Amino acid sequence: MSIQETVFIKRRNEGLNLSGLLFRSMEPGVVSVDAQRTVTAFNRAAERITGLMAQAILGRRMTGLPASLQKVIEETFASGKPVTDRTFVLFPDAEEKAPVHASTSLCADGSGQPLVVVAVFHDLNSARKLERRIRRLERLASIGTLSAGVAHEIKNALVAIKSFSDLLAERNEDVEMTSLISRETKRIDSLVTQLLKFAGPAKPTFSSVSIHEVIENSLRLVQHHITTRKIQLVRALDAGIDLVQGDAKQLEQALINLLLNAIEAMEEMGSLTVATEIVVATAHLSPLEPKGKAEQIQVSIKDTGSGIPPEVNKRLFVPFVTTKPEGTGLGLAITSRIIQEHHGRISVESEVNKGTTFKITLPLSRMP
Ligand SMILES: Nc1ncnc2c1ncn2[C@@H]1O[C@H](COP(=O)(O)OP(=O)(O)OP(=O)(O)O)[C@@H](O)[C@H]1O
Ligand SMILES: [Mg+2]
Repeated sequence: MSIQETVFIKRRNEGLNLSGLLFRSMEPGVVSVDAQRTVTAFNRAAERITGLMAQAILGRRMTGLPASLQKVIEETFASGKPVTDRTFVLFPDAEEKAPVHASTSLCADGSGQPLVVVAVFHDLNSARKLERRIRRLERLASIGTLSAGVAHEIKNALVAIKSFSDLLAERNEDVEMTSLISRETKRIDSLVTQLLKFAGPAKPTFSSVSIHEVIENSLRLVQHHITTRKIQLVRALDAGIDLVQGDAKQLEQALINLLLNAIEAMEEMGSLTVATEIVVATAHLSPLEPKGKAEQIQVSIKDTGSGIPPEVNKRLFVPFVTTKPEGTGLGLAITSRIIQEHHGRISVESEVNKGTTFKITLPLSRMP
């Protein structure tokens, strides 16, 4: 055999292998039947959809195929025309109905007599499942938009309620009741504010931000809680560089959530450590950073509090997961979202009755 012939045969075999591979891995079921009604092809998807094994079907009369499938194939042989867009149940007597969507095509000889009929069929159950999932996701997205709108309306109404209850309090009319109104209004207000942030946080406006400044500002805002609980505060802001590209207000919000959680987890005399250090990223975090040698700033917030029970830990960043009677369970969901938007990462280590450490890593700004 000449070299050309060998190459030709090799190429032809490769071509056959490729078309065989395509045929086997096709998503729809494919079955072909010749004029003698012998099954000549039956791919993997056909096996999956019909539950029949190719080896039990191939090379045999098509009577082994589901009756409904035989019917469309026979119809194509009889009419000499393809069947398009036919929907039927594969096994009408089975407990679990398997609706399929099928079409056929044919190869005919010179006189128009069909030689081979190919039926292509899809499992409608899995297509419908996918469609249902997509619809559900769309619905969730619209609920998100809707709740942001509703939250705004609620906030406006709350302003009116608050002013009137303040007025009642000034007039000294039923102080107990008005203070209750005022307290509950505040609660709804904070819930709605958190919800708004979660449903549609304003796009962050990025600029060069000093993380140490963000930490100091956040600590200032929670200082009162630290003092009243007699918590010992340890600062170890050791990172030599601390500039990141970010939104200072949002980063502050993320840190405050973590600091408040730490404070709330501790009885009196606990210890809160806030530390920063430079770490070398193990992964490629920011699209702005070259792969490989990205240095990052790591902020850790460590408490000696109650620790996080494993069942809560599993769902920590999921909205509305809370163990606190007054909590919204949105704090960590918002924090992780903000960190994500800053191309950073958040992780947690916790031991019940010992304490918890949250770690945030953020890509450093490449400016000096
Ligand atoms: N440092 C921590 N120590 C112990 N448990 C924690 C800590 N941080 C979070 N948790 C647990 O995770 C839960 C979820 O926290 P998250 O901040 O999302 O909501 P929350 O604090 O309950 O409510 P909110 O933040 O709205 O006040 C908390 O209820 C608490 O059980
Ligand atoms: Mg919280």
